Amino acid sequence: MRILFVSSEAYPLIKTGGLADVVGALPPALHKLKADTRILLPGYPSVLGKAANLMPIAKLDYLPQIGNATLLQGEMPDTKTPIYVIQHPGLYERDGTPYQDSKGLDWVDNPLRFGILSHVAAVLGSGFSPLEWKPDILHCNDWQSGLAPAILHFFNTTRAKTVLGIHNLAYQGNFEDAWVGLLGLPPQSYQPAGLEFYGRLSFLKAGISYSDAMITVSPNYAKEIQTAEYAYGMEGLLTAQSGKLHGILNGIDSTEWNPKLDQYLIHSYDRTELVKKSANKEALQNSLGLEIDPIAPLLAVVSRMAHQKGLDILLNCASSLIHDGAQLAVLGSGDPILEYGFNQLAKAHPGRVSVTIGYNEPLSHQIMAGADIFLMPSRFEPCGLNQMYGLAYGTPPVVRHTGGLADSVHDFGASAPNEANGFVFEKTTTLDFLAATCRAMKTFHDKKAWAKLQQNGMKQDLSWESSAKKYLAIYRELIS
Ligand code: ADP
Ligand code: GLC
Repeated sequence: MRILFVSSEAYPLIKTGGLADVVGALPPALHKLKADTRILLPGYPSVLGKAANLMPIAKLDYLPQIGNATLLQGEMPDTKTPIYVIQHPGLYERDGTPYQDSKGLDWVDNPLRFGILSHVAAVLGSGFSPLEWKPDILHCNDWQSGLAPAILHFFNTTRAKTVLGIHNLAYQGNFEDAWVGLLGLPPQSYQPAGLEFYGRLSFLKAGISYSDAMITVSPNYAKEIQTAEYAYGMEGLLTAQSGKLHGILNGIDSTEWNPKLDQYLIHSYDRTELVKKSANKEALQNSLGLEIDPIAPLLAVVSRMAHQKGLDILLNCASSLIHDGAQLAVLGSGDPILEYGFNQLAKAHPGRVSVTIGYNEPLSHQIMAGADIFLMPSRFEPCGLNQMYGLAYGTPPVVRHTGGLADSVHDFGASAPNEANGFVFEKTTTLDFLAATCRAMKTFHDKKAWAKLQQNGMKQDLSWESSAKKYLAIYRELIS
């Protein structure tokens, strides 16, 4: 089976969030199950800089607006997963993130940048491909490659079956309808059963309308996105297409996120040597300028600072948690109002609150190992990886009952003693979150109960293996 993943990010080449982790880990997990899996990415500077053995293999002609680009082939640096990279300096070789400039504004030509990604993906999935290697499955991810199934649908040639991976329905890639013509899309595709969404061209809707199957990143989110609360206007569409919608919980990369193997930790540990976790806590308190205090429950956040993540709720009650004896370590960036709020909080509580604004891969691992309790008060969370990293690192999470958080975290108190692995609350309110976090802090001081909670999380099979088998089963069904 040949599978081409199409993505706007893939760890370790380029990452802004969990999508990168998934695209870094799922293809090698499929490879272990004997699938020939490759990845198509835009040629951002970090991709060109970090990929191994890159070389030009084809010229891509007749691309809308830009004419031509070069297709490079190479490998992921660690896993050696084969990759294809679209090289076009004008489109992709800039500073900033894949989506935004250094001021945090979306690149104005994003529809073109990701329209080209989608177009190239469609070509590689079709009989028009310049490559000998032709995929059976084209697995697109989120809106950035959502146009590919639509473009492929209108090609008059043999084609791969298409899968749309939905990692976040809040980002839909909706643009001015002028882009339909600019991207060379067939005019007949711009209609309510196609690409049109409230008078605009929607990349995500294109993927939903024309893909052969959709897979979202947790079973619970697959249900939620068929309701108005979680689907941002696409609930009707998703309900109508629910026959091709599946939910598979993400796994975690157990070579990258494993406290025994973690390259960023000074003190590695597993569940038989949890005392060493205390050494990580002390090292973290030291490096973040927090008081060295083994007794204080160290709460932690590593997150994009976006409305989705519910961090405003934490800000509302953080002082009260500190007053009750907690310490808090925050790493993240995004919404300037949240960044400001957390910086003010740190100023008000020197030695008790540490806030790092920015993106820092080593620190994210050190926080996961050194903290006691991981906080994720998300309003919605398609899957969430950090709560699973928390489970693997003996850092029980406090989460809202939503999306993949509900599928992976079982409340202490409400679940069987051998299953409980964290703390779950229902409503996105400060009161509910505070109550759950206070429960966690109280349980932390009960050494026996806490150890059991940590063991339950650390024993859980969070690896990609079983999820990869489910992906494979869907691919097989599509091509049979
Ligand atoms: P999302 O994809 O919605 O951001 P996930 O929980 O699925 O949420 O994945 C987030 C990923 O991004 C995790 O690997 C997390 O460690 C990482 N991450 C988020 N913010 C930062 C940051 N500021 N520095 C380092 N890693 C971060
Ligand atoms: C998205 C979601 C997150 C999920 C990740 C990987 O960014 O917000 O919940 O874990 O994709 O699938």
